[in-house]
Amino acid sequence: MASSFHFLLFCSFLLLVSPSIAKTSFRPKALVLPVSKDASSLQYIANLHQRTPLVPVKLTVDLGGQFLWVDCEKGYVSSTYKPARCRSAQCSLAKASSCGDCYSAPKPGCNNHTCSLFPVNTVTRTATGGELAQDVVSIQSTDGSNPGRVVSVPKFLFTCGATFLLKGLASGVTGMAGLGRSRIGLPSQFSAAFSFHRKFAICLSSSTRANGVVFFGDGPYFLLPSAPRNIDLSKSLIYTPLILNPVSTASVYSHGDASTEYFIGVTSINISGNPVRFNKSLLSINKEGVGGTKISTVIPYTVMETTIYKALIEAFSKALSGVPRVAPVAPFGLCFNSTNIGSTRVGPPVPQIDFVLQKPNVYWRIFGSNSMVQVSNDVLCLGFVDGGLKPRTSIVIGGYQLEDNLLQFDLATSRLGFSSTLLFQQTTCANFNFTSNP
Ligand SMILES: *[C@@H]1O[C@H](CO)[C@@H](O)[C@H](O)[C@H]1NC(C)=O
Ligand SMILES: *[C@@H]1O[C@H](CO)[C@@H](O)[C@H](O)[C@H]1NC(C)=O
Ligand SMILES: *[C@@H]1O[C@H](CO)[C@@H](O)[C@H](O)[C@H]1NC(C)=O
Ligand SMILES: *[C@@H]1O[C@H](CO)[C@@H](O)[C@H](O)[C@H]1NC(C)=O
Ligand SMILES: *[C@@H]1O[C@H](CO)[C@@H](O)[C@H](O)[C@H]1NC(C)=O
Repeated sequence: MASSFHFLLFCSFLLLVSPSIAKTSFRPKALVLPVSKDASSLQYIANLHQRTPLVPVKLTVDLGGQFLWVDCEKGYVSSTYKPARCRSAQCSLAKASSCGDCYSAPKPGCNNHTCSLFPVNTVTRTATGGELAQDVVSIQSTDGSNPGRVVSVPKFLFTCGATFLLKGLASGVTGMAGLGRSRIGLPSQFSAAFSFHRKFAICLSSSTRANGVVFFGDGPYFLLPSAPRNIDLSKSLIYTPLILNPVSTASVYSHGDASTEYFIGVTSINISGNPVRFNKSLLSINKEGVGGTKISTVIPYTVMETTIYKALIEAFSKALSGVPRVAPVAPFGLCFNSTNIGSTRVGPPVPQIDFVLQKPNVYWRIFGSNSMVQVSNDVLCLGFVDGGLKPRTSIVIGGYQLEDNLLQFDLATSRLGFSSTLLFQQTTCANFNFTSNP
C-alpha cells in the first residue's frame, strides 16, 4: 500500500514539475531532418525547430561546421534562452574559455559574464564573436522509414551569430547547422541527449523541389521505393576511415585545435580505370594541416588544387574524345556539346571517375549524374572546379558530387560509409517517406 502510494506521488510530482522530461521520456533511436536544396545559392537548407514558443529555423547545412549558430540580433524571441555563464560546464564542454560582458541592454546574444565562440559563415568565410547559449530544439524521431513523434532537447547548445553574418546564405536562412566532429556539433549533442550511437547520415537531394534527408543515429535508413522491398541502405555501404586533420581548418581557432571537418584518404584518381597522373603528395595532410581531401556541403562543386584539376580535365577529355568540346562555361573548365551524348539511369554516359581510397578495391565511383552539369540545352560541363595553387585542402568534395549518395559518418569509430549513386538502386535522396505513421 505504502509503496504504491509513494510511487503515485512520485509520478504526479514528475508530471507537475517537469513536463518536458515526461514528454521526452520516449527515447528515440534516430532522428530525421528534412533538407532542401536552394536553387539560387545551391546551398542545402535544414529546417529545425527552436525556442519557446517553438519556431521553424532555416539553416544552411555545414557538414564540417563546429556547432549550430543562429542570428540572435534580429527576431530572436524565446522564454527559454539561457546564456552560458563564464566557466560553466557548458563553456568547458564547448571549449569556450573566454569570458566577456556586453555593453548594451541585455537580450539574447548580449549578456554579462558569458563565454563566447566564433561562429563562421563558411560560405563567405566570415566570422564574428558570439555568446554561447542554450535553448530548446525540437526534431522528429524516426524508425528509419517514416518520421515519428517530435522530441526535444531542452538545453541544446548553440552560438549567437549576428545579422551581418547571414550575408551570402540562402534567402530566409538565419544560421548554420554544423554537423562537424566537435563535442557541440549537432550529431554529438543529439546522440548525447538520447544516448544513441554517435552516427549520422546525409542524403542530399539533387532536386530543388523535393527534400533530401539527414538522419541522426544509426540505421536502418529506408528510401522509397526500396522500402516495400525492405532494403535498408545502411547495410550496403562501403567503408573508409575518416581522417583527423590535426590542424583546425576553421577561420578562427586556437593553437592545438584539430579540424572538425571530415577528411578521407583518397590515394589516387582513376578515369575509366586509368590513373590520373599528378603529384600524390598533395593527397596527404602535412604537419601544418595542409593537403588531403575533405567533404563539404557548403561548396556546390568539387574543388581541386590546380595541378590535380588540370590533370583531371586532360584525362577526362581524352577519355571522352569522341564528343565535341565547346567553350567552357564558368566556373567549369571543360564542357561538351551534349546534343549526341544521350543518357542512362545514372546520368550521361561519360567516363567514370573513381576516388581510390585505402585499398585498390575500395573506391568511390562517380557516374555522369554526379560528374556532369547541364549548363544549357546543348552544353554539358564536367562539374569540377579549379581551386588554384596552394589551397589549404587539395580536394574538397562538394555538394553536386554528394547528391543522391548516402553518406554515413560514424564518429565513434571514425569511419565513413558511402553508397555511391543510389540511382542504381532505383531510388534517390528525395525518396524518404516524410509521411508520418498514423
Ligand atoms: C553589464 O555590466 C555593465 C557594468 O556593470 C553594465 O553597464 C551593462 O549594462 C551590463 N550589460 C548587460 C547586458 O547586462
Ligand atoms: C586504378 O588504376 C590502377 C592502375 O591502372 C589499377 O590498378 C586499379 O585497378 C584502378 N582502380 C580502379 C578502381 O579503377
Ligand atoms: C609534390 O608536392 C609537394 C607538396 O606540395 C612538393 O613539396 C613536392 O616538391 C612536389 N613534387 C614534385 C615532383 O613536384
Ligand atoms: C552542338 O551540336 C549541334 C549539332 O551538331 C549544333 O547544332 C549546336 O550548335 C552545337 N552547340 C554548341 C554549343 O556548340
Ligand atoms: C509512406 O508512409 C505512410 C505511413 O506509414 C504509408 O501509409 C504510405 O503508404 C507510405 N508511402 C509509400 C509510397 O509507401
